[in-house]
Amino acid sequence: MSAPGAGPARRILPQLGGIAYGGDYNPEQWTEATWAEDIRLMAEARVNLVTVGVFSWARLQPAPGALTAGWLDRVLDLLAGAGIWVDLATATASPPAWLVAAHPEMLPVTADGTRLGFGSRQHYCPSAPAYRAAAADLAQRMARRYGDHPAVAMWHIGNEYGEQVPACYCEHSAAAFRRWLRARYGELDRLNDAWGGAVWSQDYTSWDQIEPPRAAPTFRNPAHQLDYARFSSDELLACFTAEREVLAAHSPGKPVTTNFTGLFRAVDQFRWTRREGGTGLDVVSVDNYPDPADAEAYLTSAMACDLTRSVGGGRPWLLMEQAPGAVNWRAVNVPKAPGQYRALSLQAVARGADAVLSFQWRAAATGAEKFHSGMVPHAGTDSRVWREVVSLGMELDRLGSVAGHLVPAAAALLLDWENWWALELDSHPTSCLRLTELLSELYRPLLQTGVNADFAHPESDLSGYRLILVPALYLVSDAAADNVRRFVAAGGTALITFFSGIVDPRDRVRLGGYPAPWRDLLGLRVEELVPLRHGAAIRLDGPGAAPPDAAGRLWQDVIDLRGATPLLSYGEGHLDGEAAVTRHEHGAGTAYYLGTLPDRSTLGRLVGQACQRAGIALWTGLPPGVEAVRRGGYLFLISHLDHAVELDLGAKRPDLLSGVRVGPRAQLAPRDVLVLDWAEPGRP
Ligand code: GAL
Ligand code: ZN
Repeated sequence: MSAPGAGPARRILPQLGGIAYGGDYNPEQWTEATWAEDIRLMAEARVNLVTVGVFSWARLQPAPGALTAGWLDRVLDLLAGAGIWVDLATATASPPAWLVAAHPEMLPVTADGTRLGFGSRQHYCPSAPAYRAAAADLAQRMARRYGDHPAVAMWHIGNEYGEQVPACYCEHSAAAFRRWLRARYGELDRLNDAWGGAVWSQDYTSWDQIEPPRAAPTFRNPAHQLDYARFSSDELLACFTAEREVLAAHSPGKPVTTNFTGLFRAVDQFRWTRREGGTGLDVVSVDNYPDPADAEAYLTSAMACDLTRSVGGGRPWLLMEQAPGAVNWRAVNVPKAPGQYRALSLQAVARGADAVLSFQWRAAATGAEKFHSGMVPHAGTDSRVWREVVSLGMELDRLGSVAGHLVPAAAALLLDWENWWALELDSHPTSCLRLTELLSELYRPLLQTGVNADFAHPESDLSGYRLILVPALYLVSDAAADNVRRFVAAGGTALITFFSGIVDPRDRVRLGGYPAPWRDLLGLRVEELVPLRHGAAIRLDGPGAAPPDAAGRLWQDVIDLRGATPLLSYGEGHLDGEAAVTRHEHGAGTAYYLGTLPDRSTLGRLVGQACQRAGIALWTGLPPGVEAVRRGGYLFLISHLDHAVELDLGAKRPDLLSGVRVGPRAQLAPRDVLVLDWAEPGRP
């Protein structure tokens, strides 16, 4: 997963040369006169890659049977003539009205039995045979007609699988779920055992009795819900795989992608990219929409970038969508500030992207997304957005040498979707624990000290990392538990938080004191779980480490020390004086344990200590809100601040963007970016 000693890697689309630039292009919403202007403006902005056809099903196939795609032929010819490459959709993301009218049973059903209607998008049950058949048919027609078109660089299947309909609860889904369960358990007794059928009289005596976990009088069986999350992710994957196989047969050799959405819970991205049985994505891509109104938008965005790189095995990836300005789907849609589109685009490049695309090329005049920004805004080209779009295109041209390089990461956050699903089920000690929040808390100090981090599956090869961070890995398989132990025994450093190692993959508690598989590793035993009320904080004391106002929130483990050294202890309440944060040597490595969630400055210090123990160099003195990211031999310094800052670079270095040498002290204007040739001699 990590890429130590990074060098130039396989470029994702070699024909594109450097960093690709562009966006979703929906010409079917415009007249042919506008197409001509589009092509001219794309050249002006140096656009060389556009995604076409994602929502074009009804215009490509207005009735069952042959494509009526003359318009798309002309669009692709125009693009090819202008040297613009196309990420062509199989167009199956939004089924047309005629298909839904003929097969109303393909519409998805929610857990409370509501059948969702036609009139927005993603209105299909992933298990509905009518949808599967029609999608495969369309994908085949598209592949045959356009597989060899000179404009087509790659294929795009679906759109944000699961984003609108993460799971369906209809009869087709019920039948598919039963098949999935038979394959998983074989015998009904094994299922009853795995689901804890003895509790609340829930044993099944026939497979036909099993339904999706629909709305119920009170808490639904957690193992049933967990299996439904696994099944639902697999069903979406099956839709993708079916189309992928069609493309492999009819348009062999063209890379295939689907656009993921970062830290999105419904889709287990690691399973999608594991390439089991020849399936998977050739290129991983992501849609990234941090909220510009959030002062830490850059942090969520950085995590989405790192996750995308990680699920793709470290290889370069594609920023498929972002907004050049505002979106339309939040309660309040604040546009990006001047410079923010550039800073966040270059953040993606810093973190491994070889393409920077937006949704969408031209802001729509009709439909639900007409107030969503576009690269060509409603105001036209005499606008700030357009000027920023053109200027970024020029700058990306200067970063050609960065393409194909890897992002070395010595640290990894362990992430497992199965754990995410299980962790956030109901009837737990607290409903305030959200994995993405905990991930952000642990990620923030890394970002603030210029430490690159990957996301790694707990069962993956961790030997390339020096530090692993393990936030609330509640569900842990035996293999994952061993993997973490081995990593530390072999000299690695681990930082594990509360509510980790609690259950096995059946959501069955591992008994004998928490976290059962890691008590030896951590040198402790957690006897009792004590969540803190929302907003409550508990004072933390410690030998030197904690400032006077150090505090823990969210959680308080009752820790029984069995060899671990306490670093911080609770400073009040009935656990006054008991260990809250510990460290323990195990084999050649070190394991830290957090029994509470320390405040940000205390947590920053603890993560810093763990980095130092792991031999990871920190960039100290980096102003919060400024990123320092290594990619290949380049260092990206990106300010997300609205005021200027000064940085100490230690020496003068060439900046690829401005073409001048900067340093040893460098001014970063508000939201400014430097891309320094860090391989040059003169490194401090
Ligand atoms: C994405 C979606 C695009 C567009 C965009 C608007 O989630 O894939 O089609 O709707 O949001 O922000
Ligand atoms: Zn269904």
